[in-house]
Amino acid sequence: MNTVVSGIRSTGHLHLGNYFGALKNFVRIQDIYNCFFFIADLHSLTTHPHPDDFHKSVKIILAEYIAAGLDPEKATIFIQSDVPQVSELYVLLNMLSYKGELERTTSFKDKVRLAKAQARNKPVEEISYDDNNDEGININAGLLTYPTLMAADILIHRADFVPVGKDQEQHLEFARVLARRFNNMYGEEVFPEPRALDFGTGLIKVPGLDGSGKMGKSEGNGIYLYDDEATITKKVKKALTDSGPTEPNAPMPEYIKNLFTLMSLVSDPSTVDYFMEKYNTCTIRYGDMKKQLAEDICKVTLPIKERIDDVYNDDAYLHKVVESGREKARESAAKTLELARKAVGFKVF
Ligand code: ADP
Ligand code: TRP
Repeated sequence: MNTVVSGIRSTGHLHLGNYFGALKNFVRIQDIYNCFFFIADLHSLTTHPHPDDFHKSVKIILAEYIAAGLDPEKATIFIQSDVPQVSELYVLLNMLSYKGELERTTSFKDKVRLAKAQARNKPVEEISYDDNNDEGININAGLLTYPTLMAADILIHRADFVPVGKDQEQHLEFARVLARRFNNMYGEEVFPEPRALDFGTGLIKVPGLDGSGKMGKSEGNGIYLYDDEATITKKVKKALTDSGPTEPNAPMPEYIKNLFTLMSLVSDPSTVDYFMEKYNTCTIRYGDMKKQLAEDICKVTLPIKERIDDVYNDDAYLHKVVESGREKARESAAKTLELARKAVGFKVF
């Protein structure tokens, strides 16, 4: 049976990007594959969260995983830092990760620019990645080697497939590079090359409703699984629009495309067609479209929201889930690490 691995960082509530890019697919495949889904708490340390908040953030993701339908009877659900083998493999893979390629990673460059922008209180657009002026700014080695740790997460279970959103494509490619590089260097097929799991539709990017790129926690434009109906309606109402097209079949501005993209994820195809027809005939009323969109988002998220608090407050149950996940994940990881250590040349005296 093929093995699947994926994780989400513990940096706050899950939004629609996390849901449609990752979690919904986790739930879909948990019956078919040997699945490992985890909470990437080590990855979240790059931004130095306060220790008092750290555990709570992990618990939020755990509760939201389960509320969305992940079943610990079907998938191994665990916390990344509970599996020390990941960190050991990370050390081995660090020796094969070159500074140049890590520095070229888009997410690293974006994070450097964001950190500088925040420290200097300036818009990101005005910041250059390589102005060599990062004194006192938190650009740590963990941020640079973030893709190496992610590769360790994936390779430690010898994953065949990784369900992620489009923003993770480059990181996943790096995991493939490291798998190949390790196998070539040590002459053994220790790691299969993991592939993206995209259900034949390509990896998806859920847009924000503020007219800019993706929906994300750091982008501050999230619609969260934990939001109530009034909050969702308010957020959708605020989405950027204009006074509408003035000629039939007009090209669509990016921010209107984003509304349609989101609608195609939550609404019936016939609803999307209806508004598309209205757009193409210049009769669209964005107020109506937003009302429909907010309703359809709620249909997806409110049943999940309803369960989150109950799961979150059931400490005894969560404890059991984490304990059993830890045991299963460690067992799988230990087997792989043994192979890797042998390949590298470690021997028991
Ligand atoms: P965030 O990007 O919000 O900080 P993470 O980096 O922890 O969240 O992302 C966890 C998962 O959610 C990854 O598989 C990522 O690809 C997916 N994801 C996050 N944002 C989006 C988005 N806007 N569209 C599609 N997938 C996304
Ligand atoms: N880097 C991913 C993100 O930011 C989270 C992640 C960490 C991950 N390790 C992983 C995803 C392993 C898939 C597999 O979204």
